Amino acid sequence: MDKDFNVQHSMYSQERLSEEKLLGEEHPDDAKIHILRSNTHWNCHVYLWGFQLFFFLISLTILSRALFHQAPLRPCNCEDHMPMWSPALEAVRGTGHTQRFDGSFSTPNAFKGPPSPDIDGAWDSITYANGGVINISEETLQAVNASAAYSVKLAPEIGGGYMASVEALHQLHCLNILRQATYEDYYKDKAEPWQDSPQTLRYHLDHCIDNLRQKIMCDADAGILTYVWVKEHPMPFPDFSVQHKCRNFDALKDWVVDHQIYTNELYGVERLPGTLELDTPP
Ligand SMILES: *[C@@H]1O[C@H](CO)[C@@H](O)[C@H](O)[C@H]1NC(C)=O
Ligand SMILES: *[C@@H]1O[C@H](CO)[C@@H](O)[C@H](O)[C@H]1NC(C)=O
Repeated sequence: MDKDFNVQHSMYSQERLSEEKLLGEEHPDDAKIHILRSNTHWNCHVYLWGFQLFFFLISLTILSRALFHQAPLRPCNCEDHMPMWSPALEAVRGTGHTQRFDGSFSTPNAFKGPPSPDIDGAWDSITYANGGVINISEETLQAVNASAAYSVKLAPEIGGGYMASVEALHQLHCLNILRQATYEDYYKDKAEPWQDSPQTLRYHLDHCIDNLRQKIMCDADAGILTYVWVKEHPMPFPDFSVQHKCRNFDALKDWVVDHQIYTNELYGVERLPGTLELDTPP
């Protein structure tokens, strides 16, 4: 694209140069000759200008196409790539990078494989098991279109504003309890949700499945999976190690750490005078 543009552009420049040379052959003092030449070369000039205009328009088209296709942060036509506004976006702005997923079918990694204290430690470090509650302003509450009437207000002593947390941490929490559910024997006496009644636990797991379903459908990841041949596998094998565009998750988590108001359970959050309550959970 750029190469084409340069070729077209230099052709355009050569045309202009040769025309300047042509005009330069005129004798500037000889008005009669000038008029004569102007008349006799009029058709020639129209032709040259038309020729130049043609190449100029081609160059312009190529240049604008190059600009519009290459600039990832172009201000137009990107509405459908924009996330919901959040104060935490400031943490991930500029952290975009390409990352190839670990799509291995059977090789364990820090988060994957039979349960162990190490695996639990890795999951705790990304789910923010010990809180992750932040305070947000009333303007932020309105900007994210949350309920102003029922949202939990925080007392001034613990920061003021409204109680909030960040989606990615909740989503990872959901994925973690689904993971634990698949290793029920290991977790049933350890993890907190397994102390709940069977009905509540069922709701919790179904809630998590449905939340992650909506998140995945909402993102509508259009990335391309490819297939490879593997010895002794009769069928094409999917290569799940797909390259993605990612944000820096650690930057988001650090932002939560910087904005959290306490690290223990729900310590310090109480109904303030005049609080409104919903009849049933949302
Ligand atoms: C805010 O949420 C309500 C209830 O879901 C919805 O009807 C409304 O369209 C939302 N407003 C904006 C600006 O998104
Ligand atoms: C959140 O609480 C901190 C104190 O912990 C306070 O300095 C800050 O202004 C509060 N932020 C909002 C948005 O209310």
